[in-house]
Formats: sequence, C-alpha cells, structure tokens
Amino acid sequence: MSRLLIKNIKELIQVEEAPRTKVSGKDMAVLPTIKNAWLAIEDDLIVDYGGMDDFPEITDWVGLEIMDVEGQMVMPAFCDSHTHIVFAASREGEFVDRINGLTYEEIAKKGGGILNSAKKLADKSEDELYDSAWQRLQEIKSTGTGAVEIKSGYGLSVDAELKILRVIKRLKDDSDLTIKATFLGAHAIPTEFKENREGYIDLIINEMIPLIESENLADYIDVFCETNYYTPEETSLILEAGIKAGLTPKIHVNQFTSIGGIQVGIKNKALSVDHLEVMTEKDIDDLSKSKVMPTVLPSCSFFLNIPYAPARRLIDNGLPLCLATDFNPGSTPSGNIPFVLSLACINMKMTPEEAINATTINGAYAMDLSKTHGSIAVGKKANIVITKSISSLSYIPYAFGSNVIDKVILNGKL
Ligand code: NIG
Ligand code: FE
Repeated sequence: MSRLLIKNIKELIQVEEAPRTKVSGKDMAVLPTIKNAWLAIEDDLIVDYGGMDDFPEITDWVGLEIMDVEGQMVMPAFCDSHTHIVFAASREGEFVDRINGLTYEEIAKKGGGILNSAKKLADKSEDELYDSAWQRLQEIKSTGTGAVEIKSGYGLSVDAELKILRVIKRLKDDSDLTIKATFLGAHAIPTEFKENREGYIDLIINEMIPLIESENLADYIDVFCETNYYTPEETSLILEAGIKAGLTPKIHVNQFTSIGGIQVGIKNKALSVDHLEVMTEKDIDDLSKSKVMPTVLPSCSFFLNIPYAPARRLIDNGLPLCLATDFNPGSTPSGNIPFVLSLACINMKMTPEEAINATTINGAYAMDLSKTHGSIAVGKKANIVITKSISSLSYIPYAFGSNVIDKVILNGKL
C-alpha cells in the first residue's frame, strides 16, 4: 500500500463533509475550505483530512511519505466536461482569416471549420491521432485537469468516427486521467451528403450507433444543434437512437442562435447542455425546471470574439453552472482551465468561488463523476492539485496566464 500525508497546506479547498452531486444558485458562492490543513491519501483514495491543530500522531511509518507544502494550497483536480482533443491538425489559417474579417460561419460555409478538420483526419492513422491526443492530455494535466470528456466529431464517416472513438478508448485505458467518451457524429453535415442530409442521419442512426454500442465505445451522445448544422427535430431523432443504445445526451446548443436545442435536451434528459452564448428568457426558465447542467465555455467566446454566456443570469436564477474548455482546433485551441477561471471571473462576473465550484464538483456532475471526483472528501479519488505558494485562492483566476499549479496527483500518484 502507498500512503501519502500532505501537511502544512495553507488552504485545503473544496472540502466536502456531506456528499453533494452539484451546487446551484447562491450555493455556488460557497466554497468550503480549511486553512492550515493536512490531507491523507492511501493508494488512489483520499482517506482523511483536517486542521494542523489536530495533526494525526504517526505511530506506523510503513510505506508512509510525508510532503510538507508550507505556503501552498491543495484543491481537487479540475474536471473538464467538454473537449474535442482528438484531431488531426491545427487551423491557424482560419484564425488569420478571422483577423482579416471573415466570421466563423463564413469560414465554415467555404468548406473550412469542422469539414476542414474532417478532411485532415481522414488520412491519419489511429496511432498518429493517439500520439497527438496523448500530448494534449499531458498539456491539460500540467494545468491541473484530472478528468476529461472527449468527443468524436471530426470523422463524419463510419470509419473515421469509429477510429476516433477507438483512440479515445485507448486513451482511457492508458492515461491516468479519468476519461469519458462522447459520440458526436452529428457535428456537421459532410460534403458528400450536402444534398442528402437524411442519408447521413440514417448512417448515424443505423450504422454508427449500433457499432458503437456493440464495441462499447461511448458514454454519451452529442449533436451540434444549430442553424446550418442540425435542426431540433434532427437532434431529437439522433438523441433517441443514442438513448436506445445506452448513451446519455450531452449536447451543443445556443452557440449562435436559440432554435429550441435546450428544450430538446430537457425532453431527452440530457446530462448537460453546452455553449449557451445566446439565451432567451424562456430558455433560462425551462432550464431552471430541469436537472440538466448548463455548461458554458468562455475560452470559446474569447477566441471567436462572440458573446459570453449569461452566467450571472443563470446563477442568479438559482441554476447550477459548469465551466469547461471546449478544447478543439477551430473555436478553442486551449485546454487551460485556470485561463477559463480568469475569463469566467473577468468577463462573466463570476466570483472565484463560483468559478472553482463550476470546474470541480459541477464539472464532475457533467461527467457522472460526482461520487468519485470534484471535491476533497473521504473515499473520493485522490485527484488533487497542489498550487505554487500563493497569497489567496482568488490569486488563481487573478494571475491570468501564469501557471499557478505546482504539482498534480492523480489516483494518488504524483
Ligand atoms: O464546440 N460548435 C461546435 N463544435 C466546436 C467547434 C468545432 C470546430 O470549429 O472545429 C465547438 O465550438
Ligand atoms: Fe464543443
């Protein structure tokens, strides 16, 4: 057995006495902490914690390592519930096109965007995709992420979608990050099906989903429900087929237009609805009567220079809120959660406490991981972040762009 005792923690953040699955509304501003604390880990689990005034008396030193982190803080590793990190190539050409005046939608209409990524992915081998995604996992780990959801969606053919999902499965098996897989075959309409969208939807429902079910390749099903992508009716059809195959919906809605995607998500008991840059009063009202986790992606707004989701209005209406990166080559080439915290505080007026709740316990909820991840609690996975020596927890979003993470421990291992 391996045992680790971390002592002299300046502040132990997000401690949880009574288990919660998520936090909502006013509770999001509450982030329980213990100043001057210790934390005990055995193998891959958190087994105890407390204040230094009742530091445990050590009688048994067998296999025990003690780590003194004077001045440093400890918090749960971040849970990033929305990424697309299996992709073939970056798209900085489109970045320059946008600088020169084209919009994201105009670039997509010219065959750029998601279709551009699908074209590049078609020629890549499973090993090549695995290697580049593996590098991205190392990168997000270095900024404190311990659990991540990864979507397919840059394949857009039976072979290529399955190829991506097999890569995600290998990443799941090999990585120390906790990984959830989402099937996003309905990310765009592939060029060959431009005049025959029903044909592609038929392929998703009758070929891709059955194969994914038989190889057990995904946990969730996603659709990009948006003007020029998938209609709410098409979204519903695809989600229903996914649900029959055991996949829970987690969908892209309201990024550019509000066309009823939220209501489709609610009707199909989605775990989360993601993006939400454009929200009507009715959207917010409907969401507040549901159990669906609203998930917002401020680094996508930053990168595309589009409106930020109305996070303040959602929280002030009593809703929970989750923050994620959306790491992908087109709209968010970054998986940096501390940067997301800064954007959430600066541009959406969330407090540091709300932002940390949104990337820990609520991020865990949006991946069905609340029982094991997202807080410091006895019996939960020892997935934790040790910060550098910092003055307060607000320093984390304040010091934007500088990496305040010193060490990451996943499954009890440094
Ligand atoms: O979440 N909005 C849809 N999908 C991705 C971006 C896709 C791309 O541009 O490659 C997103 O932002
Ligand atoms: Fe996305």
